[in-house]
Amino acid sequence: MRTQTGTAILLEDYRPSDYQIDKVDLDFSLDAQETLVTSILSMRRAEGVAEGAPLVLHGDELELVSIAVNDTALSEDGYELSADGISINKLPASDVFTLKIVTKINPTANKKLMGLYRTSGNFCTQCEAEGFRRITYYLDRPDILSVFTVRIEGDSKTVPLLLSNGNCTDKGSLENGRHFAVWHDPHPKPAYLFALFAGDLGVLKDRFKTRSGRDVALEIYVEHGKEPRAAYAMDSLIRSMKWDEEVYGCEYDLDIFMIVAVSDFNMGAMENKGLNVFNDKYVLADPETATDQDYANIEAIIAHEYFHNWTGNRITCRDWFQLCLKEGLTVYRDHSFSADMRSAPVKRIAEVRGLRAHQFPEDAGPLAHPVRPRRYSEINNFYTSTVYEKGSEVVGMFKTIVGEEGYKRALDLYFERHDGDAATIEDFIKCFEDATGADLKQFSLWYDQAGTPNLAIETNYDEAHKRFTINIAQSLKSSVVTGNVEPMHIPVRFGLVGPQGNDLAYSGVTGADVTGDVIHVREPKHSIHFEGVEQAPVISLLRGFSAPVTIIPERADSELAFLARHDNDEFARWEALSSLAMRQLRQATHDVESGKAVKSSPELTTILHEILSDETLEPAYRALCLSLPSEANIAREIGSDINPDAIYTARSQILDDIAKECLATLQATYDKLNPAKPFVPDATSAGIRSLRNRTLGLIVRATGDVELAAKHFSNADNMTDRADALSVLALQAPDAEETALALETFRARYADNPIVMDKWFAIQAMIPGGGALERVEQLSKSESFSWENPNRVRALIGSFSVGNATGFNRADGAGYRFLCNATARLDDINPQVAARLITAMRSWRNLEKKRSDFAHEALKSLLSKEKLSRDVRDILERTLA
Ligand code: BES
Ligand code: ZN
Repeated sequence: MRTQTGTAILLEDYRPSDYQIDKVDLDFSLDAQETLVTSILSMRRAEGVAEGAPLVLHGDELELVSIAVNDTALSEDGYELSADGISINKLPASDVFTLKIVTKINPTANKKLMGLYRTSGNFCTQCEAEGFRRITYYLDRPDILSVFTVRIEGDSKTVPLLLSNGNCTDKGSLENGRHFAVWHDPHPKPAYLFALFAGDLGVLKDRFKTRSGRDVALEIYVEHGKEPRAAYAMDSLIRSMKWDEEVYGCEYDLDIFMIVAVSDFNMGAMENKGLNVFNDKYVLADPETATDQDYANIEAIIAHEYFHNWTGNRITCRDWFQLCLKEGLTVYRDHSFSADMRSAPVKRIAEVRGLRAHQFPEDAGPLAHPVRPRRYSEINNFYTSTVYEKGSEVVGMFKTIVGEEGYKRALDLYFERHDGDAATIEDFIKCFEDATGADLKQFSLWYDQAGTPNLAIETNYDEAHKRFTINIAQSLKSSVVTGNVEPMHIPVRFGLVGPQGNDLAYSGVTGADVTGDVIHVREPKHSIHFEGVEQAPVISLLRGFSAPVTIIPERADSELAFLARHDNDEFARWEALSSLAMRQLRQATHDVESGKAVKSSPELTTILHEILSDETLEPAYRALCLSLPSEANIAREIGSDINPDAIYTARSQILDDIAKECLATLQATYDKLNPAKPFVPDATSAGIRSLRNRTLGLIVRATGDVELAAKHFSNADNMTDRADALSVLALQAPDAEETALALETFRARYADNPIVMDKWFAIQAMIPGGGALERVEQLSKSESFSWENPNRVRALIGSFSVGNATGFNRADGAGYRFLCNATARLDDINPQVAARLITAMRSWRNLEKKRSDFAHEALKSLLSKEKLSRDVRDILERTLA
């Protein structure tokens, strides 16, 4: 419990439980306000534990109705209740006994959306990480695996559907218009994977035959009438099941797999055994309402939750410090799946952009933590980009180091050795070592050291000796590092690019281990000599983004321009182009701040022009190249004394320049690109749409032709075009009549579709400039907005604070005060979502003084609020530390 070191839980304090739960029988008598939960636990005292050792069960906001040991009610002196649970001190001498506990809970009053709650009149659960304790007293920790049998009883009319994990073994009707169902899950599981859904939904059904011949029923539950909109999710599910068999040898292990889509959900989706629960925005799609990005998200998240069946459920985590064991690995798996389904380089570029937008700033700020943290006070705050995205990068680096074959052998061993276990990161690493013979001791520091390593690079070509030298120095700065920083093992994929763009050969190399195209950086400093290099090369480093590091290349613009044109690694080409653009954008920001005129470099414009016109390149790739580094990304690179207005102005001017220079080609491209009709959501068509809509934005920039965007909007036959055109209108011509008209047309058309209305909220929340806050405040009073729905809050308040640098960071600090007030308000309803919201202010120290003072004040005043949740308090304390 939360005793040691104030409220912190420490990794080093992990102890196995004194008691196991072999079997659990749950009985739910559902009622909107008074649901009765009867739990019968088959308990077993662990070997070596003293007779009568107290049994401490977790509990949160529960009303205890009764408790009995071996069918005898416990008297009041037999147990002790606290805010965190129950401690039972009168236990029988035998090592096995049963515990029968009845609790009463109120699902309707549950606005935290953890435990059993109501959504659109239905009953739904969310138990990860610590929600099960809000249903009944339990050993709510992931290393307690148990076989669950669940009986659900409810009103036949209002909750015709009664679902839980596993297989349905019995059902029938009861008196008083009620009915019941019994579900049995033969796979022992931790409580966080328990799920129950009861309500009234429609269903889309299909089947899947596993490669060993098991016939699996697939069922996706959505609101009545929306069944056809679950077709893409179903298709994604079937492709995921097949892919996991083919690539990882993982087969599904029950006769039924169900997905339930709900409108009120704290996260994206949840991998409960056999019964995934999804935020409905990641299930429902049709061309009219979903963008290409929505389709891609659905495909990825369906796959992610399905893949957890092996990486998470069959092999779960020993404790929550090991969260990256399931999340990092499963993100890596869903990334690989999407790369196989779509374009691998385009996917990789998107991943790296995401990493830089979310994980790098986290790692550089006060909320930095290792991929495997060593302490937490609220685990919900550790479902972070570091655990997920950096965790996934670490898995990718394992593969780079041991190779494709080695990776496969290691994963096979992991599945074989740990099936049914609650495992640790050490177990995972050991599988790589045992399967490949590699020594991964130094590499495993990636799990322990927070912060983004930096590589400083110098190169030199010695013409006379045909020798090319690279000096690499690694360093690690982190705001939270305590003690020594050890040098890391960093796999750097590289190529020596010759004047014709081909990779040059070399006859030998000294100064570092080089295997294939990977330099293994292990020392603080390497001087690496490549012998027999016939021509002066340009070095391409970190191809495919082989490690999540930053790089300070000592290289001229001309070298970057060369790589942007000629590198044979598509990712590296994009990267070189981005670096070139970033350099310009930083210079331009500097110029704006010192009152100088901003001018884009002809070189950058020329390359962009070439890429735009190069039809041998995928449209999606060309579109990515045309979107310059984001304002947030520029801010992160600048690092300190940030003035968001200057960044915005500089970036806009550079974009304006580029748009004007390339106008004719942009217009030709816009006219020529013809996405398939009718709409198909595949990657190729999506790429064409993204390039075409990207050119639209630039044309409007260059010409001010708002009419063109308005036409694009009204001619759209799909949501991608409609939403992109609306963004162009709103962000580039916020005051135009056409914009007001389009916004109103959109609202009127989708007022009854909250998922689509979130786009309407988000686009308006991101309109830059001084009026943004008033607009957001106004929108928060709109009929379609609700503080109780996480999607609404994220769409409006989240988009404003994360996606509107100028509006949120306005110079009088009103944006910060607004966000802190919004967080306080939301904290009384849903602490988990509130805590996530306020992380938008984690980089406050990097702002220029006036703004950072305002931000500081606002944060301190939020911290002084009475009755803050542990979730928000934890984030605030770390943010201010
Ligand atoms: N296990 C998580 C869901 C979860 C997160 C539960 C936090 C409780 C607290 C699930 O597998 C997950 O990771 N979902 C992601 C989406 C995924 C594609 C990265 C999410 O919900 O954002
Ligand atoms: Zn996950």
